[in-house]
Amino acid sequence: MNVLTVEGLDVGTADLQLVSDVSFTLVAGERVGLIGESGSGKSLTALAMLGLLPDGVRAQGSVRLAGIDHDLVGAPERRMAALRGDAMTMVFQEPMSALNPSMRVGDQVAEVMLLHGTQADRRAARAAAVEVLDSVHLPDPERLARAYPHQLSGGQRQRVMIAIALANGPSVLLADEPTTALDVTVQAQVLDLILSGVAERDAALLFITHDLAVVATVCERVLVMYGGRIVESGPVKEVFTNPHHPYTQGLLAASDMAGTGGRLRTIPGSVPAAGRFPDGCVFRTRCPNAADDCTVAPAWTESDGGGYACHHPVAAPEVPVLQVRERAVPDLPGRRPPPSSRSGTCSAPTAAGARRCGSRGHRCTRWAACRSTSRPGSGSGWSVSPGPASRR
Ligand SMILES: Nc1ncnc2c1ncn2[C@@H]1O[C@H](COP(=O)(O)OP(=O)(O)OP(=O)(O)O)[C@@H](O)[C@H]1O
Ligand code: SF4
Ligand SMILES: [Mg+2]
Repeated sequence: MNVLTVEGLDVGTADLQLVSDVSFTLVAGERVGLIGESGSGKSLTALAMLGLLPDGVRAQGSVRLAGIDHDLVGAPERRMAALRGDAMTMVFQEPMSALNPSMRVGDQVAEVMLLHGTQADRRAARAAAVEVLDSVHLPDPERLARAYPHQLSGGQRQRVMIAIALANGPSVLLADEPTTALDVTVQAQVLDLILSGVAERDAALLFITHDLAVVATVCERVLVMYGGRIVESGPVKEVFTNPHHPYTQGLLAASDMAGTGGRLRTIPGSVPAAGRFPDGCVFRTRCPNAADDCTVAPAWTESDGGGYACHHPVAAPEVPVLQVRERAVPDLPGRRPPPSSRSGTCSAPTAAGARRCGSRGHRCTRWAACRSTSRPGSGSGWSVSPGPASRR
């Protein structure tokens, strides 16, 4: 059953169209990645869903959340405040700007439970806050609950944000680059907390990131965004091994998973500023396949449990761009493993151009997302290793 249904979501100012016709669904317990270069419209999409768009930016279309009897787009702030932090929550990239600097972190966790009535009174909420802080593995949670955000490390602050986001058992968690600002050694632990948190609650996760390896590791489906539009979507395994859209192909080739012998390819040109995208296909000024008919916006073509918007899709490769293999799924409490999961071992411990995995001493392309840094032997979702040849 869908817990979230986004249909025809547009976001823009009086003069600029920033996000156009975004549609997707999330089902309970599903983990979906949202990827795309900087300026693609990922954050605006998430903010629009929560009614948190900046002044002067408006949303149109439809965002429906299971159990909520009204559309979230255009809903009054009073109604959005009632579900924000409760049924749907968000973890931001920079916790320092998301936390209240003048309030003790325990009180901030307690407040979200009091506001939404999940704890009866302040005393009960404070006790529950310590438990929630403990559940995100913060050391000495009773003492830490009395600290202010500036007294915590970046990783600890992000754990507090995760605690707040999970405190009321949301059905949808939006995570907007939640590990980008963190020290590399903390990234895997924070990712681990998010994954186990949503798994315990059977919550759907929309994971916004630039890190394709993380998407390959933790997500079941992926949405590829460019110029404020979803240009391709589908199961991670399909999209990452057999992309149809030239932009997806370019992103994969530019990622450090693409097996280019340490040299990363780039997508020609750069993302235009808002309002400067070409008419017709928004990618046509950078696309190697562009032709005359690309001045007309391409229709959506259904494919492999997803689809793409392109007049001249990439031909299926003889050898996949990336070889995506199944891995062991972590033993998370309450987790509903994907149907295809089965045991496996680390598939990419010695790839060229990789970085060093601190805790295990081997070289690994996926070390930032790799759960083996904290739990040897466990992995999650899919792993990606370089294919023998790139198509470009
Ligand atoms: N308040 C605003 N007014 C006008 N344009 C805006 C506003 N906020 C964002 N934009 C523009 O909308 C586009 C999409 O922004 P958004 O923040 O969603 O990108 P993003 O995909 O999240 O990028 P990043 O990966 O860098 O976070 C950008 O061109 C940005 O400059
Ligand atoms: S529609 Fe044309 S310009 Fe756009 S991605 Fe496809 S081939 Fe490239
Ligand atoms: Mg963003």
